[in-house]
Amino acid sequence: MIKVAPSILSADFRNIEKELKKVESSGADLIHLDVMDGHFVPNITFGPMIVRDINRSTELPLDVHLMIENPDSYLEVFVQAGADYLTVSIEACRHLHRTLSRIRELNVKVGCALNPATPFELVKPVMKKLDLLLIMTVNPGFGGQKFIPEILPKIKEAKEFIIKNDLKTEIEVDGGINPKTAQSVIQNGATVLVAGDAIFKSRDYKEVIRELKEMKLDR
Ligand code: DX5
Ligand code: ZN
Repeated sequence: MIKVAPSILSADFRNIEKELKKVESSGADLIHLDVMDGHFVPNITFGPMIVRDINRSTELPLDVHLMIENPDSYLEVFVQAGADYLTVSIEACRHLHRTLSRIRELNVKVGCALNPATPFELVKPVMKKLDLLLIMTVNPGFGGQKFIPEILPKIKEAKEFIIKNDLKTEIEVDGGINPKTAQSVIQNGATVLVAGDAIFKSRDYKEVIRELKEMKLDR
């Protein structure tokens, strides 16, 4: 089953509670929150205080995507703020194994993100520790960017590894996902789709989420 995680980066923050209710009643599975620090990525968004308020405004699990340097210092505060999934960027972790173990100890789902230029190979040694592998399909930092199709073989490689090793890790894709690009990522093995602009800049959230979830695959 395909899960859809609307990224509130593209939502109308003046009406965030309304936006959350809208995606909730439109069939969203998770709320994706992009935390950016202006160092790891060239943009700044929000921190644990906003995550906490979002948590109070939705029943859906929070999928917290950390695009920050030194994530180790902030794991606990984001869990306290209500994260259900906590994803760190591999490129920001000097001791990835330790960081992932710490997230596990905090009793939330463990996620790790790979930038477009980072090969799957680098995450292989810790795949068993992951509930979620986030494969970036744009360079992180902004919503509304164009999907990079060259990432598709990496999704396939990850899926094959997961099947071969009998793992339960979900593959999430993030960046430029819309009903047009979704087909190819699902075909290659993605099961969790993050979508910002495709949902929040559309007229009918429900229709877009339905299209993403009911994507037909070529056999
Ligand atoms: C980009 C973020 C994404 C972003 C996706 O760095 O990680 O979650 O919000 O936005 P769209 O779907 O508009 O590309
Ligand atoms: Zn994201």
